[in-house]
Amino acid sequence: MEIIKVKDSDELGYKAAEIVAKTLNELENPVIGLATGSTPEKLYANLVQKCQANEITFKNTTTFNLDEYVSLAHDDPTSYHYYMEKHLFSGIDIQKKNAHVLNGEADDLEKECETFEQLIQEAGNLNMQILGLGLNGHIGFNEPGTAFDSRTHIVELDPLTIEANSRFFASKEDVPTRALTMGIGTIMDAEKILFLVQGDKKADILKKVVYGKVTEEVPASILQRHPNVTLLTDIDI
Ligand code: F6R
Repeated sequence: MEIIKVKDSDELGYKAAEIVAKTLNELENPVIGLATGSTPEKLYANLVQKCQANEITFKNTTTFNLDEYVSLAHDDPTSYHYYMEKHLFSGIDIQKKNAHVLNGEADDLEKECETFEQLIQEAGNLNMQILGLGLNGHIGFNEPGTAFDSRTHIVELDPLTIEANSRFFASKEDVPTRALTMGIGTIMDAEKILFLVQGDKKADILKKVVYGKVTEEVPASILQRHPNVTLLTDIDI
């Protein structure tokens, strides 16, 4: 794992955008996995700026988001559909048909997960996956205990994740208890992983992820076994 230390969230957003831009410019038809949450917000703001300055284009890019809550409407401000539209898609030249976000409102959620996996395979696999880190070590919504070879699936969210994400909702009771997520096996198939971890409150879990035992109890610890991970963090580890 390559570790790049940054001084704060501004530098993290700036450097992450440089790395993503390089990948977009190198490939004819990039396939990129995207994350939501607080950590990548500045990355997306920088990508929008670069796209509007014609330094990059998303015209031939396909994206797949890591996860989405079950049952939230796409125009619900707490859904990841809404987040992506607000922070990235509305500001770039991506073709909407190529921006894939799991549909948490699908009648058949199992089928939705299968179709999503198939679409990733058909796109030729992920050239790059952007990841954040949950306080409990999750990546995507793969909570502790998830099998390392899991594919896209339905999850029951961990109480710690519900607590952490309640900051985006009116109350903890409003946070959906289920979600759809790309699996750990799906994530590990990506050629390259850009792992973004920001804020002192994640110091303890990040140390376990990078230096601890590789165990399903700390889902992100599997990244130790991925051949091409770049960790950008403002944490001293
Ligand atoms: C979001 C996702 C999650 C977040 C993680 C960190 O799509 O997959 O794993 O990356 O919960 O979230 P923040 O950045 O809000 O601390």
